[in-house]
Amino acid sequence: MKGLQVHCLYFLVLDAVFYVASLEEGDSISTLDNLMDNFKDLIRNNDATPHAYAKFSLRKPLMPEDDICYIIPGNPESLKECTFNSTSKTFLVIHGWTVSGLFESWVAKLVSALYKREQEANVIVVDWLYTAQNHYPVAAQNTKMVGQEIARFIDWLEEATNIPLENLHLIGYSLGAHVAGFAGSHASNKVGRITGLDPAGPDFEGEHAHRRLSPDDAHFVDVLHTFTRGSLGLSIGIQQPVGHVDIYPNGGSFQPGCNLQSPLETISKLGLFAINDVPRCSHERSIHLFIDSLVNEQEASMAYRCGSKEMFDRGMCLSCRRNHCNTVGYDISKVRKTRSVKLYTKTRASMPFRVYHYQVKIHFSSKVNRSEMEPSLTVSLIGTKGEVEDLKLTLKEKITTNKTHSFLLVAEKDIGDLLMVKFKWEESTSWSASFMLNMVSSWWSGDSAESEVEVHKIRIRVGETQKKMEFCIKDPHALSLQQEVTFVKCKDEWRKTSKRVNLGNH
Ligand SMILES: *[C@@H]1O[C@H](CO)[C@@H](O)[C@H](O)[C@H]1NC(C)=O
Ligand SMILES: *[C@@H]1O[C@H](CO)[C@@H](O)[C@H](O)[C@H]1NC(C)=O
Ligand SMILES: *[C@@H]1O[C@H](CO)[C@@H](O)[C@H](O)[C@H]1NC(C)=O
Repeated sequence: MKGLQVHCLYFLVLDAVFYVASLEEGDSISTLDNLMDNFKDLIRNNDATPHAYAKFSLRKPLMPEDDICYIIPGNPESLKECTFNSTSKTFLVIHGWTVSGLFESWVAKLVSALYKREQEANVIVVDWLYTAQNHYPVAAQNTKMVGQEIARFIDWLEEATNIPLENLHLIGYSLGAHVAGFAGSHASNKVGRITGLDPAGPDFEGEHAHRRLSPDDAHFVDVLHTFTRGSLGLSIGIQQPVGHVDIYPNGGSFQPGCNLQSPLETISKLGLFAINDVPRCSHERSIHLFIDSLVNEQEASMAYRCGSKEMFDRGMCLSCRRNHCNTVGYDISKVRKTRSVKLYTKTRASMPFRVYHYQVKIHFSSKVNRSEMEPSLTVSLIGTKGEVEDLKLTLKEKITTNKTHSFLLVAEKDIGDLLMVKFKWEESTSWSASFMLNMVSSWWSGDSAESEVEVHKIRIRVGETQKKMEFCIKDPHALSLQQEVTFVKCKDEWRKTSKRVNLGNH
């Protein structure tokens, strides 16, 4: 009973440190440190066995949770005993910071998923739990040391088995991503690939490339950023790009389906042990997106290169030309540019995470100048395989007449080829002063229809198929947008674009 109480307190203190320690090293923190060192001694005294920084457990497809065979660097016999297959791919799964000192449940899930995709592979779980269990700043500081030990393991493995390092793929989560980076940079030869799953932010953000995961650490480095929500200048996941390709699902800051409550609120509702779940959901989503890409190969998510999250959210970046889009997760294509490339994607709240992205371009026209409108816009898409109804278009700016606006629309299912679009405009600020003025003036001039906003065409680009289509109003007399108006496909390509291209050629 006493042990449990101590553990509880330890848990809470560590989490507090995770949030606060990188902010400032005040007096209160060092008091906290002393307090914690006492607790750590208490816990450590329980086992007196000496520890290596890292252990290498070759897991088996049928027992993904169990550590049944360790590969011991310097001992070639252990490779045989664990039936290491030197002609197939090798994965090193590297966990992050831990409060419990135990593997989290995702480890076995990721091992299973890797074996599901690559049956003959060697999936090795790197166990650096003992070091990772320190309080956050200490664990973060030790990532280099652990990485160096993994690098020595890689050097030995290469020598003992002759495996081509191109076949070696390091997958690191949170602090483990930086461990993987150090392992890669200290290995004598370059490893094939490192995947960083929401690499940890505190103590690494803004640091020199040598002190964190970076594109130099492997032939190809890909990164998923899922919890970069900054608060008080501190973000759990690193915000800056650190790989060759950096993907920011849902903008990277926060993930759908993860309940954003303040940690204190959660404690009062769910008790102390829940405190860690709040950041963990979005942080851990990076792993589940990667698992999804392994097991749902046919439903791979696409991500698109974009200058900013804001532009992506307006649907402006759904092009795949010149490597501007890529596959999320395991099947990513290894595009190496000199500068990091930022890609964005939207996802569902659960597996399979893939969605369909649509850019919707609408030209609003009116005989009377109107601006500052914030209507509620609803769209339904009808395709050959199904339909999605009443999707809200998110306004990123106020609507102005005689201007084309661009929106991003996301469908959670495959509706096949688009046939029809239904569109509805509801003025939420109906009684705003400018609207009243318009109403009065048009009533005064005797033609209230003049102030009506009209939409004649809707242009749509689909990210997943790269198709562009134009939709024209079905019944030209039904111009009042207050009711749902139906648009049917009138052109497969945006004619203006092709015309311009033709003119340019002659
Ligand atoms: C090792 O892996 C290769 C494929 O990578 C496979 O063909 C071979 O059968 C495996 N060997 C053993 C002993 O399982
Ligand atoms: C609408 O506004 C634009 C610029 O704000 C102006 O050039 C144009 O003449 C106006 N049109 C009418 C009909 O008021
Ligand atoms: C908007 O454009 C249409 C067609 O080009 C034109 O008839 C109308 O007067 C314009 N409206 C304003 C307010 O300028």
